[in-house]
Parts: sequence; C-alpha cells; structure tokens
Amino acid sequence: MRTLNRPRGLWQVLREALPTRHGGLRRCAGGDGREAPEGHVHLIGCGPGDPELLTLRAARLIREAQVVFYDRLIDPAVLALTPRNARRVYVGKRCGDHAVGQSGIERQMIAAARAGRRVVRLKGGDPFIFGRGGEELRACRSAGIACAVVPGVTAALGCAAEAALPLTFRGVARAVTFATAQTDKGAEIDGAFAPMLSAGHTLALYMGRRMLRETAARLLSQGVPCDLPVAVVLDGTTARQRTLKGTLAQLPDTGPAPEGTAGLVLLGRSIAAAEIDVPANA
Ligand SMILES: C[S@@+](CC[C@H](N)C(=O)[O-])C[C@H]1O[C@@H](n2cnc3c(N)ncnc32)[C@H](O)[C@@H]1O
Repeated sequence: MRTLNRPRGLWQVLREALPTRHGGLRRCAGGDGREAPEGHVHLIGCGPGDPELLTLRAARLIREAQVVFYDRLIDPAVLALTPRNARRVYVGKRCGDHAVGQSGIERQMIAAARAGRRVVRLKGGDPFIFGRGGEELRACRSAGIACAVVPGVTAALGCAAEAALPLTFRGVARAVTFATAQTDKGAEIDGAFAPMLSAGHTLALYMGRRMLRETAARLLSQGVPCDLPVAVVLDGTTARQRTLKGTLAQLPDTGPAPEGTAGLVLLGRSIAAAEIDVPANA
C-alpha cells in the first residue's frame, strides 16, 4: 500500500537524501513522495591490506551490516568483523577474471538495499581511487537508494608510508599524481607523465606491475632521466610486503612476482630523499 507524505520543501528533501556527518544515512524517500524502505548502501574503503588501517567508522558499519559485498584484496580479519548471520557475497576481480560483472554487482547491491537490508560494499584502498566507487554511487542514486562513502587509505599512501618512501619532500617534490597504467581501452602510459616527472613530481602508478618494461621504455624515450628513483611495492602493508628499489633504467629487471600479487610503482626523486648513507662499519 502506498503511503503518501505531505509535500516537503526542497531543503527537507535534500536533508533526507544526504548522509549524516558520521556516515549514517537518513531515510531516503522516493521522488514521488512514497515511503522508501530503510535499506541503504555504504561503499567502504578498507585500505590496502593491513586491517589495522581500517577507520573506526568503517569498522562500526561493517559490524552492523546485513549484506556484505567484498573484493579480492579484502583481508580475512576485516571480513571477520561482519556479523555471523550477515550474507557475504564475493565479487572480486582479477585481470580477465571477474566473479561478477560490474553491472551485476550494482544490481545485487540495489536489490539487497531495496529489500530493506543494511548493505556494505567493501573495497580495497579508497572507493574513489580506481575503485569504481563513483559508478556504484551513481547506480545506487539512480535507483533511489541512499548511499554513502567511507574513505579508506589508498594503496599509494599505505605503500609509501610502510616502505618509508616520501611522496612529497620540501625542495624536491611538491606534487604527487595517482595514475593508472590501464585504461578501459587497454594498457598505455600517458604522455603527460614524462613532463610531470621531469618537473620533479612524484608518480604513483596503479595497476602497472605487468608493464614495467613498457613504462620504463616509454618514459626514457620521452627524456626522463635514467637515474630517476623508482620503487615497486608488492602487497604493501601486508605481512608479505616486499619493496624493490632502483632507478628507471633498472625498472624492467624487477623480476616476476607470484600471480595475484598487488604491485604499486612509485617514481620520483622524493622517494629516495629520506635515505641516508649508513657507513659500512656502523
Ligand atoms: C583496481 S586498483 C584499486 C585501488 C584501490 N581502490 C586503492 O585506493 O588503493 C588495484 C591496484 O591498486 C594497487 N594496490 C592495491 N593494494 C595494493 C597493495 N597492498 N600493495 C601494492 N599495490 C596495491 C595495485 O596497483 C593494484 O593493481
């Protein structure tokens, strides 16, 4: 049965549709004034691996969830926070191997929220950094589902901090760019990166582990100095973390990593700026 509300002003409509300051969601009424079910979606950034990087807000919402959609890189300790009776749905993606397609994920989340459930979508890193969080937010909003985003530590920040590689450094680098080596048309290194690196910026390259050779060749051919410091952080912030350091000329020689290893490439002078020479007899 339809419940009709009395007419509401624009401000009231906005207040109801917007998330509260602490990530909770006010009830979202349909545009036609119908009562909407209480279900909602939180897109939650879970950080790059270490469960201790989860925010308190994320942990609270995960503990209250009824339906949980989670990615491949979500740590089991984060999943362990979900209530016992919550429904857990794996929707992980790996190159060319998607458990569920993007539109399928969106459809399932919307259906669960429409059924009145508290839905959480657990994402590696931050939902809005190469996480398709924007698409999922738009899909939920288009369907009239209340949706809020909880920020997470993105891989570049987590990997750089854990590997002690500064992304900016006074007098060395005053800008840092988060970029992807992949586009929806395939893999390519953007022509804009070389001038940035030459201007002293730092580049954090996501999804670039499989194309180190092409990256180095392209940047070198565009005049980036061969002694530019680079680092590849594998499975950053986890117990398996490995950091390979060298120069741009050495980048292709970092060797293979086991299948399923996440890798972040950092390039720029600031990443070596905190290094100190330790005397051999120290
Ligand atoms: C699809 S993107 C998702 C990024 C995520 N939303 C974030 O904010 O970190 C996945 C890429 O992030 C990087 N990445 C994620 N977790 C990582 C980790 N623990 N160590 C190194 N790189 C990581 C890798 O480059 C990987 O290919």
